[in-house]
Amino acid sequence: MEKNPNTYNGETLMLSSQKKGDKNVYIESYGCQMNFADSEVVASILEGEGYQTTQTVDNADLILLNTCSIREKAEQTVRNRLVHFKTLKKNNKGLKVGVLGCMAERLKHKFLEEEQIVDMVVGPDAYKDLPNLLVEVAAEREAVNVILSKEETYGDIAPVRINSNGVTAFVSITRGCDNMCTFCVVPFTRGRERSRDPKSILEEIDKLAKQGYKEITLLGQNVDSYLWYGGGLKKDFSKATLLQQKTAIDFAKLLQLVAEAQPQMRIRFSTSNPQDMSVSVLHVMAAYDNICKYIHLPVQSGSDRILKKMNRLHTRQEYMTLIDNVRKILPNCGISHDMIAGFPTETEADHQDTLSLMEYVKYDFGFMFAYSERPGTLAARKLEDDIPEEVKKRRLNEIIALQQGHSKYRTEQYIGNTYCVLIEKASKKSPEQWSGRTTQNTVVVFPKEHYNVGDFVDVKIERATSATLIGTAVGHSKTI
Ligand code: SAH
Ligand code: F3S
Repeated sequence: MEKNPNTYNGETLMLSSQKKGDKNVYIESYGCQMNFADSEVVASILEGEGYQTTQTVDNADLILLNTCSIREKAEQTVRNRLVHFKTLKKNNKGLKVGVLGCMAERLKHKFLEEEQIVDMVVGPDAYKDLPNLLVEVAAEREAVNVILSKEETYGDIAPVRINSNGVTAFVSITRGCDNMCTFCVVPFTRGRERSRDPKSILEEIDKLAKQGYKEITLLGQNVDSYLWYGGGLKKDFSKATLLQQKTAIDFAKLLQLVAEAQPQMRIRFSTSNPQDMSVSVLHVMAAYDNICKYIHLPVQSGSDRILKKMNRLHTRQEYMTLIDNVRKILPNCGISHDMIAGFPTETEADHQDTLSLMEYVKYDFGFMFAYSERPGTLAARKLEDDIPEEVKKRRLNEIIALQQGHSKYRTEQYIGNTYCVLIEKASKKSPEQWSGRTTQNTVVVFPKEHYNVGDFVDVKIERATSATLIGTAVGHSKTI
């Protein structure tokens, strides 16, 4: 930390006494769902400092960018955005700009030097320090805090929902990641893995239920690795007392606790890592109707050789066995993936292994990327980024084309049948239609009629594109 906290007590107190809600903060989030959830934590902390969130930069006193470092392109997007804010700042001298999230953590002070317009740099574990940092900003002193924490889960902060549809919400359950996939910057920007107290998770969900929310998504970089034994890092579990170890709560247990506490709410979770997903989680999913039958199960590659180089701690065969178990225990489960094309040393044969694995699973949908070398990762240090861009692009296009076919194959299976859909919002393409999702996470669009946002509705599917089901409602649903 670049400051002496004792110096600022007076100023902080002064700030707290003038909490009037008369200042506006505009928060823009990039990247994973965790960043969007974190922005709601940030909004809550700033609310205590007299800031209310605004949807437009025009009336903002403070602009915060919650940034993503996962690929080069994600960082470039943020840099472009900062150039835009530079112009705004010229016309509004009082306007302050802060960078939050993974880029803040990765670039630290360099941000202040590289991007002249940035007033404040705050890493993902340092948001509680925002009140102090704002004092620094006001005094035109350097405001940087990028300390990663062993404990911080923000479990005690009630997020202020931003841009909410009032129906679906994210609830974070773990922070950080211990997996060290060789291509991934997340362990460096978000630190070691910690789990949040189940009590505070259940309380947050209960509050959401009382506010009328109908669906929550439990969030973590690797939710299946969730482990509560009283606090502390996941890697220190072996040092816990025998009693703590015996009474520990794993992800299957947490999922069950949430499902039982909120039988009227849909429960989703993301992301699952194949190496940590246990069969017991699948059995809990099967046992509770309110746990959605959908698993996001990134695999990254279908080649054993590449999986090993990526430090993904499972084989192709183990992944296929997990998929077989999903199909057996949850026959109608939606499955999606993340895939990386052109990881260092990837041969055409490795790429074919990826395509054949996709053929085996026939995923409902997927998120597909060309490999982007990230500074500081093991892959960047040990492996040459040796696949030419045009080869990466060609392989990525082949993966995307195959996925499109599989998505179409999957959505066509729905035609003629009726599914329960939770209405989330008006369809972007046609405002006179509702848009919602099935338990499998497939988007459904249908005429609004007399139905409302937040209703569970049975919809008969008549047509399908590769991404969307189109149908007509036949009545309110008895299930969720
Ligand atoms: N466990 C995380 C994964 C975060 S990164 C989660 O909760 O989603 C999301 C996806 O980005 C990864 O699964 C991977 O497919 C992709 N990705 C990560 N690092 C990458 C890189 N260096 N180049 C290309 N894609 C990457
Ligand atoms: Fe990244 Fe692997 Fe963790 S993809 S977030 S290091 S599971």
